[in-house]
Order: sequence, then C-alpha cells, then structure tokens
Amino acid sequence: MTAGPTNSPARPFLVGTNLKMNQTPAESAGFVAELTSAVAPRLASTPGLRLYVCPPFTSLPAAVEAAPEAGIWIGAQNLHWAPEGAYTGEIAAPMLRALGVELVLVGHAERRRLFHETDPDLNKKLLAAVEAGLRVLLCVGETAEEKGYGVGRETVARQLKIALHGLDPSALSRLQVAYEPVWSIGTGGTPAQPADVTEIVVPMRATLAELFGDSGRSVPILYGGSVDAGNAGSFTALSEVDGLLLGRSGWTVDGFTKVLEAALRGRSGSEDSAA
Ligand code: PGA
Repeated sequence: MTAGPTNSPARPFLVGTNLKMNQTPAESAGFVAELTSAVAPRLASTPGLRLYVCPPFTSLPAAVEAAPEAGIWIGAQNLHWAPEGAYTGEIAAPMLRALGVELVLVGHAERRRLFHETDPDLNKKLLAAVEAGLRVLLCVGETAEEKGYGVGRETVARQLKIALHGLDPSALSRLQVAYEPVWSIGTGGTPAQPADVTEIVVPMRATLAELFGDSGRSVPILYGGSVDAGNAGSFTALSEVDGLLLGRSGWTVDGFTKVLEAALRGRSGSEDSAA
C-alpha cells in the first residue's frame, strides 16, 4: 500500500479513544477539557481532522458539557436498539441524542465477546442509532482462531454485511468503521503489523463498495488494537486507513496527543521508521 498523500481527501481523518469502564464524571470532564485545549491548534490547522472520546454512560453529560461545539465528538460505548421500553439497565439512542451525544460505538470486540452481542443485534443497534441522528463507529475484527484458519477477511465481510444490512445509503455520511483484530486488543494483545491491517482493510473497502457502490468509498476506515505513539504512524501511512480507535494509549492527555501527532506524521508520509 502506498503512503498517506493518497488518502482520499473526501474522507475525514478521525482519532479518538474508548475509555471503557474508566473515569468518574469529574475525571471525564477534566480529561475532555484538558484535551480540548491541548488539541485546539491541531484541529484548527488540520482540515478534515475529527477527534472523539467515548466515556462510560455516567460520564456522558459531564463530557458533553466540557466539549465545546465543533470540538471533540463525545460518543457512547453502546446503546439498545429499541427507542424506549421494558429493557432494564439499557440506554436508548434518543436518550443519548437528548444528552448531546454525537457518536456511538457499535460492536466493540468486548461487547461481542463478553456480552454476547451478535451480528443481527448489532444491525438493529446500528439502524436505531442512525435513525436517532447519531454517528456510528462500527467495530469489526477477527479472532486469533479465525486468523489462524485464514478466514479473517470472511469474518469481517460477514460482520460488515450483517451490521450494515438495510442501511440507507443517505446515512453513510454518519458511518465510520474500525478494524480491530480481537487478537490485538488490550493487555495481552499482540500489536498488528501494517501488513496484517492491509490484508483486511483492502477487502473491507471492497465490501463497502459492493454494498453501497461508489458511496462506500466515502466511509472512513479506522484501525484499532494496541496502537501507541510508536506504531500509530505505520497504520495511518496506509492509504485505506483514515484514522485510529485508541484504548489505553489515549487515556491521558499526554498519551492521546503523542499518538495524534504520530498519526498525523504517518498520514502525511513523513513518519520516520520508529517515530
Ligand atoms: P487498546 O484498546 O488500544 O487498549 O488495545 C483498543 C480498543 O479496545 O478499542
């Protein structure tokens, strides 16, 4: 794959973090406020750059409050597909919109693995989110076992086709997709090599084109899984990678901004080998 300058100018470049089950509301407010000041010059000087932070549900109001308009998108980590009803413990898309939440993660590997979310469940969640006016970051990725059998592409194509089934192409401007191989996520994960990412994201782009024609080319594809400042640029240098979904490395302002700078260097093709 060729380096950054071939990234489509039509696609935004997105970098953000999933805070998982971390931070109190006060901690999230402080994190978002500090991050907003730290990245303001970068946001102003980089056309097409979008940043996002996905705190736990309890932190969403405080995080939205701390994020100025046109700054960092605040995202939820999950939602229920029904607009309301008898679903004890669940949160509906219109409730998130009412808080001023902009984005929602759908299908994170931990939701699939630990909470048994299936592809048809994720299809319902994605359609409900879009219907409510949320942006969606759909996460897909194969397990180590699937990679071992050489069926990673098939897994990801199936996940995309089911999750996106019935999505009206007019809603594509609200969709972004993250490739996160399950074997690369979290403590104990094995960081992917750029070649691993290319092997899956090129067919992902083809699947999006198969589903939506040329409009499928406008959907940003992000990479996530053990990304840090040392390897971020090697992923964003790939022409089909339009940004990053961070976990641990994005949980401090210093960590987030270092990865962001490395990602932008990679994107512009000026990343040196081990920046
Ligand atoms: P990690 O998490 O960067 O800590 O591996 C990524 C994710 O879960 O999205």
